[in-house]
Amino acid sequence: MAETVKEAAGGEREYSETEIAVHWREEEYVQPPEGFKEQATAGDESLLERFREENFPECFEDYADMLTWDKKWDTLLDSSNPPFFKWFVGGRLNACVNCVDRHLESRGEKNAIVWVPEPEDDEIVEITYSDLHRRVNEFASLLKSLGLKRGDRITFHLPMIPELPVSMLACARLGVIHSQVFGGFSGAACGQRAADSQSRILVTADSYYRAGNLLDHKARADEAVEEARREGQEIEKVLVWRRIPGEYHSESEMVEGRDFFIDELLEEHAGKEVEPESMPAEDTLFLMYTSGTTGRPKGAQHSIGGYLAYVTGTSKYYQDIHPDDTYWCFADIGWITGHSYIVYGPLALGTTTVMYEGAPTHPDPGRPWRIAEKLGVDIFHTAPTTVRMLRKVGPDEPAKYDYHFKTMTTVGEPIEPNVWRWYYDVVGKGKAAITDTWWMTETGGFMGSTLPGLQPMKPGSCGPAALGIQLVIYDEDGNEIPKGSGKAGYICVRNPWPGRMLTVWGQDERFIETYYKRFNKDPNSKDWRDWPFMCGDGAVQAEDGYFRILGRIDDVINVAGHRLGTKELESAATAVEEVAEAAAVPVIDETRGKIVEMYISLKPGNEDGDAIAKKVSAEIERQIGKVARPKNVWVVPDMPKTRSGKIMRRVIAGISNFADVGDTSTLANPEVVDGIRDYVQGEKRARGEDTQELSKSEQQEIAAYGTSSE
Ligand code: WTA
Repeated sequence: MAETVKEAAGGEREYSETEIAVHWREEEYVQPPEGFKEQATAGDESLLERFREENFPECFEDYADMLTWDKKWDTLLDSSNPPFFKWFVGGRLNACVNCVDRHLESRGEKNAIVWVPEPEDDEIVEITYSDLHRRVNEFASLLKSLGLKRGDRITFHLPMIPELPVSMLACARLGVIHSQVFGGFSGAACGQRAADSQSRILVTADSYYRAGNLLDHKARADEAVEEARREGQEIEKVLVWRRIPGEYHSESEMVEGRDFFIDELLEEHAGKEVEPESMPAEDTLFLMYTSGTTGRPKGAQHSIGGYLAYVTGTSKYYQDIHPDDTYWCFADIGWITGHSYIVYGPLALGTTTVMYEGAPTHPDPGRPWRIAEKLGVDIFHTAPTTVRMLRKVGPDEPAKYDYHFKTMTTVGEPIEPNVWRWYYDVVGKGKAAITDTWWMTETGGFMGSTLPGLQPMKPGSCGPAALGIQLVIYDEDGNEIPKGSGKAGYICVRNPWPGRMLTVWGQDERFIETYYKRFNKDPNSKDWRDWPFMCGDGAVQAEDGYFRILGRIDDVINVAGHRLGTKELESAATAVEEVAEAAAVPVIDETRGKIVEMYISLKPGNEDGDAIAKKVSAEIERQIGKVARPKNVWVVPDMPKTRSGKIMRRVIAGISNFADVGDTSTLANPEVVDGIRDYVQGEKRARGEDTQELSKSEQQEIAAYGTSSE
């Protein structure tokens, strides 16, 4: 049993040591915009009935029926070997056929992909379904000529250029397993992943635009090849897409016999068509590496039939995608969001999906809204971090442009209610339904969200469990926490679902260990009910069934026995008018275990950092309590961030603790780190706060802080 500790001040209330305190106030409902339901793909309550618990697993046939199958499945769900569940067993299909070929007849001349290059004067590239079919076939023909076949793995290290989805779909056509490593990652990170997946071929690009610069990307391939070799994997060929046709923008020399320009190789494959492989549904479509708690990368292995059915169904119902929409998911395809909701889901539905190469604020913060206006985007999808940034630097920009969104999605982190409001009022102009979609790399698609036509929104909550998903919250001891109790715990999925990863590539044991061991009571059980999937987030469920996600379990700061969700602290801080962004980190403290330090950046035009820092402290104390009052509030010009925009809390946690900040090579802005360190550590020394010696385990804890959500 968990111990209880008395609150130091007051002494009245007893907190369980394992209790995650929840202080984020429940918000009111916001109803879907008028007229939305009538046109919605999910506008009929009977859908909710069809997906009720007693209709599991048959309910998921609804999603599978949206696909074109070469052969229908014999067994809907094979759960005989938990937790290695298989869906649509005996069924055969091809993902590329579903995303491309089957639309040719009805939509061949409609745009499949619209690509917006970062330089605003460059021409926008429109790729129709017929064009896409041709390009995918030619590249598939080339891959085939290199000896790639069903089940082989290939690593991509590609930026946001249209050749990325073309390459993915070409693999899908051949049954080759693609593993795209986020373009912003270092060459070493790419090489490590290529080695883990035993890839012989690396596909990259020479360069790409980001924030006004043409960046050298090919140089990273050289590092990747070396790193993979160190790990015992030989990359035999590096295939290079050229960002600007006919030009080469890299310092790295092409290595004779190893490196090839794809446009040159393709000459021989012009106009070639490749017969799509009819693949077993439970075979593998791709790997997506994600951070784990150990150094070894963790390749989430996703299936063909189950995954594609799940992302297609959720794209249709949750994002309300109709074929004639122009849908823009402003994310990077290098993350699961891009795989599921830029490429596979939208293309399976035959819609037009927009890709943007560059930075949100290039050349100015009006850019996203100009793109929306110009292309007639009506469904918009992005992460809270992008919303916060755009609010910070261009709060009045959306009003200047004439676009109309009917739905807007958010993904990736909890969205603070006040940021939600700006998104709704200013970006959506009060006319768009917001779907806050909670899920993760491992789940393939949305796990918690509102259906935009049928369920009201509630700022700060993602919503109820997604269709057919049975969510549950357990406490430390595996007892179910009832809804409405105000208590938080570990959110888990009770039942198997088609979008779930099959396993960790090459590490079945780790798959069980990471996701199932915690709440499985009988490892020999053959009943899926004994195998809840642990998502890794803390969450609380309100009386109405809506979930609020408090962040990764490991993002919880335990101050004198009180577990404070990082996100709650940050939400309180950003409730202060002048604050643009906030990050909370733990600082090791002799008497209280850990204390909180806050880092904030200010909206433009605010000078008086000291006064605002005081306001932040006061607001945290007001919203959460004295226990959460930060030791320090540091005002910094910018937070260290990943390319995907997530604040790298371990870097600032390292600074606050006078510890190693670790690898900063994956930061979008590594140059800010030194400035922050000089300022914060200088101040702390002056205040005599630098005396703490960290133990080995404390050092490790700080180094790992927040990494699972990076
Ligand atoms: C967090 C991204 C709150 C969560 C799709 C999860 C969210 C992690 C939300 C997975 C949301 C994602 N509200 N938190 N709507 N969506 N998260 O694997 O902590 O990059 O565990 O997948 O992001 O991140 P990943």
